[in-house]
Amino acid sequence: MRPILISPSLLSCDFARLATEVTRVEEAGADWLHIDVMDGHFVPNMTIGPPVVEAIGKVARRPLDVHLMITDPLKYASHYAKAGAHVLTFHIEVAGSAAGAREVIDAFRSEGVRKVGVALNPDTPVERVFDVLDLVDLVLVMSVFPGFGGQKFIADVLPKVRALRARGFERDIEMDGGIHAGTLPACAEAGTNVFVAGSAIFGAQDMRSTIHGFRESAERARAGSQA
Ligand code: DX5
Ligand code: ZN
Repeated sequence: MRPILISPSLLSCDFARLATEVTRVEEAGADWLHIDVMDGHFVPNMTIGPPVVEAIGKVARRPLDVHLMITDPLKYASHYAKAGAHVLTFHIEVAGSAAGAREVIDAFRSEGVRKVGVALNPDTPVERVFDVLDLVDLVLVMSVFPGFGGQKFIADVLPKVRALRARGFERDIEMDGGIHAGTLPACAEAGTNVFVAGSAIFGAQDMRSTIHGFRESAERARAGSQA
C-alpha cells in the first residue's frame, strides 16, 4: 500500500522568511514540500521560478514536490529539474494530445526527474490521463481551480480518484486544494495517499498537531474504507 504523505504548500507560507518556514514545516512533520509554480498564463497568478526553487532546495531536507501550473512545461523542464525538483508535475490540459503528454514525460525523465506527475483540473475528465497512466509516478487531482490558496474544496472530483484506483493505478494519487480536517477523510477513503494543504497548515495554531492529525485521519479513513 502507498504511504500516506503530507505535502504542505509553501504558497501559504511567509515568503519573506522562506528558509525559516521550510525548516518550521519540516520540523512539524512534512513529508514533502509542495511548491506551486504559476506563469500568469495557464493560471491568473504568478509565483515561484527556478532560482527560488533552487534556493529552497538548498535549505530543504525533504523532497521538493513541484507543481507546474504553466503553459509550456517542455520549455522549462530542465530548469526545474536542475533546480532540484524531486517530484515534477505538469498539467494534462497543456499537453494537447497523448503524444504531447508523452513528450513532456520523456523530457522530465531525461532530465533525471525521480517522480513524474500529471495533474488535472476540476473540470477535466479523468479519462484524459488514462493514456499516460503507465508512464507516470503520480496523478495530481485538483480539488480547486488552480491559481490561489484558500479556496473551497470541490467534492465532485472524488470519483476521479476512485476511477483511477478502479483502473488499477497503484502509484501516488495526490489531492490539492481546500484540504483540511473536514475534507481530508473523504479524499483518503477514495484512495488519495498524498495530501497537499497550504492554508490549513500554515494558518494553523499548532502546525505539528495539524500535520499529525492529518496523517492519523488519513490512515483511519483508509482503514475504514477497506474494512
Ligand atoms: C492552488 C495550488 C495549491 C494551493 C493549495 O493553485 O495548486 O497547492 O496552494 O492551497 P490550499 O490548501 O489553501 O487550498
Ligand atoms: Zn499545488
